[in-house]
Amino acid sequence: MAKTYNIAVIPGDGTGPEVIAEGMKVLEACAQKYGFRLETRNFDFGGDRYLETGEILPDGAVEGLRKYDAIYLGAIGHPDVKPGILEKGILLKLRFELDQYVNLRPVKLYPGVECPLKDKGPEHIDLVVVRENTEGLYAGAGGVLKKGTPDEVAVQESINTRKGVERCIRFAFEYCKKRNKRNKLTLCGKTNVLTFAFDLWERTFHEVAKEYPDIEVDYAHVDAITMWFVKNPEWFDVVVTDNMFGDIITDLGAMIQGGMGIAAGGNINPEGVSMFEPIGGSAPKYKGKNVINPLAAICAAGMMLEHLGEVKAGKAIEQAVMRVTEKDIKSLAAGRMGHSTTEVGDLVLKYLQQ
Ligand code: IPM
Ligand code: MN
Repeated sequence: MAKTYNIAVIPGDGTGPEVIAEGMKVLEACAQKYGFRLETRNFDFGGDRYLETGEILPDGAVEGLRKYDAIYLGAIGHPDVKPGILEKGILLKLRFELDQYVNLRPVKLYPGVECPLKDKGPEHIDLVVVRENTEGLYAGAGGVLKKGTPDEVAVQESINTRKGVERCIRFAFEYCKKRNKRNKLTLCGKTNVLTFAFDLWERTFHEVAKEYPDIEVDYAHVDAITMWFVKNPEWFDVVVTDNMFGDIITDLGAMIQGGMGIAAGGNINPEGVSMFEPIGGSAPKYKGKNVINPLAAICAAGMMLEHLGEVKAGKAIEQAVMRVTEKDIKSLAAGRMGHSTTEVGDLVLKYLQQ
């Protein structure tokens, strides 16, 4: 009997539903072709639901999501909702409560994609960032005193636990080994200033490294890495870093791979339920116009299939996306692709079915 995967789908806000619709088309085509079944259920979490009902995530939502094999998310963020409410109440809450402790973000320049870096091509840009996803500055530790007065004090602390750091670093070593490309893992930190947190990271990194003699290890400060990503991206294979630095360097990563239109990521709990998403936001100004680029969402669907064990199907999605970038679309930017959102989805389908 064909294997069945239960997928929770959260299209979310802005252009989220449009890109998820294209991703779903591609997923269904893969199921047909590769002989598995998808059982999906849509959840309406997001800004519109919040504005209508005042409810961010209903009671029991997280428990309900735990029962799925994976979550496929569009985007969270609404122009009429104060920043932070939906991001913290939905996206970060799911990452934390589902203990998705790794945010896996591939940075790969596909053929035909215009790269802002002079003289760099697909042979130079193929790296993966393993971002810690449940701790650091995102943990919410701190508080505010005397708010709104001249004596106001705001404290926001970075939480780094041995367990949290070690499991993320172990994941990065394992991932690097499995990927088996350059077999090089770079720790990105700030050991010259953040001498408590990154001392823990550095010690843990070198301890775990002893178990991986075939992996070359390297270190870069976060400020320097933003320079190297631009100047010598070919130096990097897998990069492991904390939550905040990972957030920052993966936006830069998205730019060197051609933009948010192509950047996908996975929030991974290797022992639980993982969530896959395009990393760009909800892009509300393009909502409903059929101009947003769905490739990032389609790539996220490919990552989800690989994670579920449908490796062939996942790789086929990536191959199909690469043919679209090489042959068909003029630009990855919304409105400048030379095709609509739905047409780009159809092009991926066409190559997938060949
Ligand atoms: C990301 C986003 C989120 C983050 C925001 C929306 C909370 O920027 O996924 O990178 O900071 O992690
Ligand atoms: Mn970000």
